[in-house]
Amino acid sequence: MTDKTALVTGANSGMGLATSAGLVQKGYRVLMACRSRERGEEALARIGQSGGPGSAELVLCDLADLASIRRFADDVHGRISSLDVLINNAGVVSPKRQETKDGFELALGVNHLGHFLATNLLLDLIKPAEGRIVVVASGAYKAGRIHFEDPHLRDGYNVVKSYGQSKLANILFARELALRLYADGVAVNSLHPGAVLTQLGVNRGTGFGQGVYRALGRMPSFQTPEEGASTAVYLADSPEVEGISREYFYRSRPNRLDRKAEDDETAARLWAWSEHEVGL
Ligand SMILES: NC(=O)c1ccc[n+]([C@@H]2O[C@H](COP(=O)([O-])OP(=O)(O)OC[C@H]3O[C@@H](n4cnc5c(N)ncnc54)[C@H](OP(=O)(O)O)[C@@H]3O)[C@@H](O)[C@H]2O)c1
Repeated sequence: MTDKTALVTGANSGMGLATSAGLVQKGYRVLMACRSRERGEEALARIGQSGGPGSAELVLCDLADLASIRRFADDVHGRISSLDVLINNAGVVSPKRQETKDGFELALGVNHLGHFLATNLLLDLIKPAEGRIVVVASGAYKAGRIHFEDPHLRDGYNVVKSYGQSKLANILFARELALRLYADGVAVNSLHPGAVLTQLGVNRGTGFGQGVYRALGRMPSFQTPEEGASTAVYLADSPEVEGISREYFYRSRPNRLDRKAEDDETAARLWAWSEHEVGL
């Protein structure tokens, strides 16, 4: 049992739901950040049915809308006075170029900029000396670069460029944040969950992508959401991770990064650019 509190973004589906359930099983109070009240309540009911010594509650947050993120941060501050674990898990991938409410390219806007603002607005709640921040990135970062000349990909959009950029941004953000929080003793690590069968890439409005989801489900090489969530739960809760920060994990072990993801100059430049974009 624990009296710890965790917040998980994208908690209604896939690995976010499995991570939330895993932490409730370990006795955490879990704040499940979801953009849809309906899907969030369904997920909450599923977690309630599975039991567990902890508890779960729904907090609404649309990471594609800066005003919603600010309301969410206020809501969280009204509910809790400290946070042990923040898991930035929500993510999107889109075959077509789309924009967030604030005109950001969707993947960069949700996967990176939305989490960048949300994390910064919640930082005062993270417990010094023991707090942990977990960033769910992806091995797809290898296909990305930060397009500082056209970050919102107005020219020559494609899905690999978009998702790869957003996931590289996740890792650069985690490494820069780890440096900034080093003196406070807050650990920040990122991870690649592996290939996991989830609703990632399935359009929630039209259902486009469900066929691919079903076809992939017949391939044994895909992990279940619970298997995929295991590294996030490990980074959130395992005593083995104490004192470890600024690492990138795969299968609950530190993994080597390509040089571009360890480029501190790019990470600092991305941080400054992101602050400007979200108005911090
Ligand atoms: N699946 C894989 O093989 C794989 C591999 C590497 C990395 N990842 C990463 O793993 C993470 C979890 O993805 P998943 O595979 O579990 O996919 P998923 O089942 O599609 O879950 C994604 C979650 O993100 C939420 N989300 C999307 N847009 C949002 C927004 N604007 N505001 C707030 N929440 C939003 C979704 O909410 P809705 O249900 O309301 O859309 C959902 O809860 C992502 O960061 C993804 O990049 C996945």
